[in-house]
Amino acid sequence: MLINHTKIGKLEGKLSVVTGASRGLGRWIAVELASHGSLVAVNYANSTTDAEETVRLITEAGGTAQAIRADITKEAEVQSLIQEAVRRFGRHVDVLVNNATGPQPELSIEDISWQAFTDQLEFFVKAPLLLTKAVLPGMKSQGSGSIINIGSEVVQLGNANFSSYVTAKSAMIGMTRSWANELAPAGIRVNLVAPGWIPVERHKDSNTEGYQKRVPLKKMGEPSDIAAAVAFFASEEAKFITGQCLSVNGGNTFGI
Ligand SMILES: NC(=O)c1ccc[n+]([C@@H]2O[C@H](COP(=O)([O-])OP(=O)(O)OC[C@H]3O[C@@H](n4cnc5c(N)ncnc54)[C@H](OP(=O)(O)O)[C@@H]3O)[C@@H](O)[C@H]2O)c1
Repeated sequence: MLINHTKIGKLEGKLSVVTGASRGLGRWIAVELASHGSLVAVNYANSTTDAEETVRLITEAGGTAQAIRADITKEAEVQSLIQEAVRRFGRHVDVLVNNATGPQPELSIEDISWQAFTDQLEFFVKAPLLLTKAVLPGMKSQGSGSIINIGSEVVQLGNANFSSYVTAKSAMIGMTRSWANELAPAGIRVNLVAPGWIPVERHKDSNTEGYQKRVPLKKMGEPSDIAAAVAFFASEEAKFITGQCLSVNGGNTFGI
């Protein structure tokens, strides 16, 4: 039996689209996929300088990436994002990572509105639907593809005053499973990575002490922990895995 010790190159020449990759987890997912040889479309909505910084991190390490602006909640912009990625890199999308998020307000039932729910559904249901529809013809034509949804442990925890976000992230699980069944005959796998609390730029003033005490592994996760799980699902190493939800949270929750 041949043993391959190198992880570099397991996505060689593939094209990955990572939504919301100008900062936070998306940036590190983009960097990780590129480190395995993937060409990466770094999507963002507003932060051009930050998206260019993600591209710089990738290219300085010898990878290939380009920033493409698009509001992933808008159908026409999603269409042009995917068309532009395919045009610039010269191949169909192999890996789609549905990662982008807007603001996540915490609101009691008294204060929450239906609009607050649809705001979350726009990011975690509508956008993945638009993006999946846009990459599907290419993935079907090549008989392969990997779609990775970024969920959250809040689905298992059921955090209070967070029902809009929890509901939308719950819907992502149903979508993942239904699409996994539907797309399996076309060679397309659909999985979900559910992070615990992973401090990113927007958490710089947050106190993580209480959360960390409750995590069995007694530490905070890092963006690279999430990126590694995404790269695994994206790769051939996960070729027999679809419809799964992987919690990356130091043991804070178990399965669903
Ligand atoms: N970090 C955590 O603790 C944690 C835990 C569980 C789950 N998650 C999930 O992980 C994912 C990433 O979270 P994060 O903490 O890394 O978020 P973040 O740091 O707030 O980054 C959000 C990203 O989404 C982009 N974005 C916002 N609106 C957009 C739009 N309309 N179209 C395209 N891109 C848009 C932002 O780009 P611009 O800067 O250009 O607006 C930015 O790149 C989310 O799905 C989140 O729910 C995170």
